[in-house]
Amino acid sequence: PVVALVLAGGTGTRLYPASRSHRPKQFLSLGDADDRSLLSRTVARADFADEVVVSTRRAFADEIENHAPDAEVLVEPAAKDTGPALSYATHRIAERYAEDGDDGADPVVVVLPADHHVADRPETDDAGAGGVENGRFSEAMLTGARVAADTGALVAFGVEPTRPDPGYGYIEPGDDREGYHDLAAFHEKPDPETAAEYVDAGHLWNAGIFAWTAESFLEAARDSPLRSLVHALDWGDTERGFDEVEEVSVDYAVMERAENAAVVPVSFRWDDLGSWDALERVLGDDEAGNAVLGEGLTVDAADNVVASDDTHVSLVGVEGLCVVAWDDRVLVVPKDEAQRVREVVAALKEGG
Ligand code: GDD
Ligand code: MG
Repeated sequence: PVVALVLAGGTGTRLYPASRSHRPKQFLSLGDADDRSLLSRTVARADFADEVVVSTRRAFADEIENHAPDAEVLVEPAAKDTGPALSYATHRIAERYAEDGDDGADPVVVVLPADHHVADRPETDDAGAGGVENGRFSEAMLTGARVAADTGALVAFGVEPTRPDPGYGYIEPGDDREGYHDLAAFHEKPDPETAAEYVDAGHLWNAGIFAWTAESFLEAARDSPLRSLVHALDWGDTERGFDEVEEVSVDYAVMERAENAAVVPVSFRWDDLGSWDALERVLGDDEAGNAVLGEGLTVDAADNVVASDDTHVSLVGVEGLCVVAWDDRVLVVPKDEAQRVREVVAALKEGG
């Protein structure tokens, strides 16, 4: 069996003021023609799997039901990033299949982040922000699932980089197998100079999507900073396990030190919508290079990103800006500094 495990517990706030702590990125629709959220599109895209489980933190559990009414929702006892979240969910899934006595079947788990934009390549794309969301995607997922089942490897999915973005993990592909490569090295979020070297050297971006059998993952986790948590889960001592485990992502805890890992290169369109300038890549832009989400007007303005929920926004004679109006809040930031939205979110947290 193949289980799609959708990760929907992150607080992704880089699309402030659309994303807020009570409304993280996975719940936004961001221009989808049918107004479906990123989470609900992720669940729809998971139709290659036999079942879908959504993993999240307590605070989001109720809202998840509105976006994924048919999926099983698993709530981890404490939000400690993707390492603990995946250990918990994988352990539960493995247990469930063991109880079902399904001939001792070891399920393949395909991990899907709930807040990414995915579409097929332009030749088959309907060019809307919703995009065509199957074909190549399902095919790649099933390839990864097969490699995971056949080889016991922890399988990552590699995207051809288009810029030296330090916000991603980088994968050095090793020997070429059929439809995949051995994974020679995994480097999570390098500094900008190292990221540029990796791009030149032909490394791939880690898409944040993984495929592994429950057993292979738990075995790797037992040999990682997640060790004590997995042992506590074995003993049914979930609360204590979460109390004691450090907050750590699966990339640092498991992937960087994995001994048996593989990478499936993918060709679908993928964007993790990490900042407002990504909207241009996803929505496309007009002749002057403006990307507009919601009601907006541009006059003699070029190369801007405009986004609003229901405020009409006009830009006149300006260039290279992101202008966002959402709820009762407005954000203006140069497009090439869009990452600095983090500074606003941090200042607000401190009571600014
Ligand atoms: N259930 C649960 N619990 N989900 C979580 C938690 C948690 O504590 N923390 C984060 N998530 C979810 C997020 O909602 C997102 O869907 C996914 O896990 C990945 O977390 P991010 O916090 O968005 O990770 P990242 O973007 O910084 O980095 C990862 O993704 C990149 C690609 O977008 C890494 O895998 C990088 O290597 C990768 O390049
Ligand atoms: Mg992310």
